[in-house]
Amino acid sequence: MSDGHQDALADAARLLSRRVGFHTDPSVRGRLSHSVTAAAKAHHLPVPDYVAALDRDPAALQDLLDRVTVQETAFFRDPAQFAALAEQVLPSLPAPTRIWSAACANGQEAYTIAMVLDEVGHGGSTVVATDISSQALDRTRQARYSSKEIRGLSAERRERYLSAVDGKFEIVPAMRERVDVARHNLIADPPPVPAGSCSIVFCRNVLIYFSHDEVVKLLDRLADWMAPGGWLFLGYSETLWQVSDRFDLVRCGEAFLYRRHDGTGVPAPQRRRPAAPARPATKRPLTARRPSPPAAAPTPPTAVELLAAGEAAIQAGDNATAITAFRKCTYLDPDQPVGHLYLGLALEASGDGTAARRAFAAAKRALEIGETGVLESTLEGYHPDELVRLLDLKLAAER
Ligand SMILES: C[S@@+](CC[C@H](N)C(=O)[O-])C[C@H]1O[C@@H](n2cnc3c(N)ncnc32)[C@H](O)[C@@H]1O
Repeated sequence: MSDGHQDALADAARLLSRRVGFHTDPSVRGRLSHSVTAAAKAHHLPVPDYVAALDRDPAALQDLLDRVTVQETAFFRDPAQFAALAEQVLPSLPAPTRIWSAACANGQEAYTIAMVLDEVGHGGSTVVATDISSQALDRTRQARYSSKEIRGLSAERRERYLSAVDGKFEIVPAMRERVDVARHNLIADPPPVPAGSCSIVFCRNVLIYFSHDEVVKLLDRLADWMAPGGWLFLGYSETLWQVSDRFDLVRCGEAFLYRRHDGTGVPAPQRRRPAAPARPATKRPLTARRPSPPAAAPTPPTAVELLAAGEAAIQAGDNATAITAFRKCTYLDPDQPVGHLYLGLALEASGDGTAARRAFAAAKRALEIGETGVLESTLEGYHPDELVRLLDLKLAAER
C-alpha cells in the first residue's frame, strides 16, 4: 500500500472521528480501510481523491457511512431488558409516552418496542427510530425481514405482528404506525424530539464505536434532555462506569438499566451509582457446568457459580471479591471467554491495566480456540462478533 493511500486512510479515520465520533483505533481502521477502498472503486476514483472529496460531498460521506457501519441487530435482542420494559418501566409511566430507539439499525429494536407497547396496552405511545445509515433507515421504513432475521420472534408474535409478503415477513401496519423513522447523528444532531418529552431511550450497541470523549459528551447531552427520571437502555458490553455520574444503575429483574439521577416515583429495587460494567442479563450455561451431586456435604463452587458470585460482588460494589471469584472461575474453566472478559473488566475498574490486558487477551484466545456451536451457548448472550470487537477495543485501549 502506497504512502498516499495510507495517508488518505488516516485522513478518512480523522474525518469519521470528527463527523460521527468513531474511534480511530486499529479495530475500526481495518473495516474503514476495506470500506474506503471499495467506495473509491465504486466511484471510479483513486483512494486519495475519493477521501479528499468526502468532507465537501455529503452523498459520498453517506455512502461511506453506509459501508462502514454495522447493522447487527435482532428482535428481542436482550429478552431480559424487554421484560423489564414491559413489567417494570412502562407500568410506571403514564400513556401515551415516547420512546427513542437511537441507532436502530434495520429497525428490529424499534418494532420490538412497538410490540411490547401493544402487549402491555400502552395506548397511543410511540417510538422514534433513528440511525445515521440511510440503508438502515430504508430497511426500517420497509419493515420487511427474512426468515433468518425474525428468529427472535415467538410463533405467537409472528402470527400477530407479521404478514407474509413476497417471500419475506412484513411488520403489520398497526405496529408500523407506532414507529416514526428519521436520520440522526448521535454525535452532531440535537435529539429528534423536544427536551423533556421522552422518558425512555434505547441506545444499545453503538457507544462502543465512539471515542471516550464523545461518549462522555453524548451522555451529558442525553441527561440534560431526557425527562426527569428517564430510563436509558444500553447494550451488554456498554458501561457508564467512570464515564458518567448522571445516571444510576438500576437492576430490574434480570436486566440492568440506567436511570437519570433525579428519578422519583418509580420503584428501583437495587439503585445505586454506576460502579460496575453493564453485563449480559441472560444466563447461559458455562462449559464447566456440572450437575450438583446429591450429597449433603459442601462442594466447591462450579465455574458458573463463581461467575455468578463475581457478578453479585460487582453489584454490591465489592470489586476485590469479584476479582477473586472471576479468577477462580477462569482457573476452573480457562476455555470460557466471558469469565476472562469479566475478570478483565473488574481488573480494569480496579486500575490494574496490565492484568486487565492479560485477561482480555486470554478471553480472545478462548474465543479463537472455541468450537463455534459450543461457544455460542456459553457466551452469556454476547454475539461472538461483538465479543471479538469488544476485546479488540479493550486490548487497543489498554496498550
Ligand atoms: C450494532 S447496531 C445497533 C443496533 C441496535 N441498537 C441493537 O442494539 O440491536 C449499531 C448502529 O449504530 C449506528 N450508528 C453508528 N454511528 C452512529 C451515529 N454517530 N449516530 C447514529 N447512529 C450511528 C449504525 O449505523 C448501526 O446501525
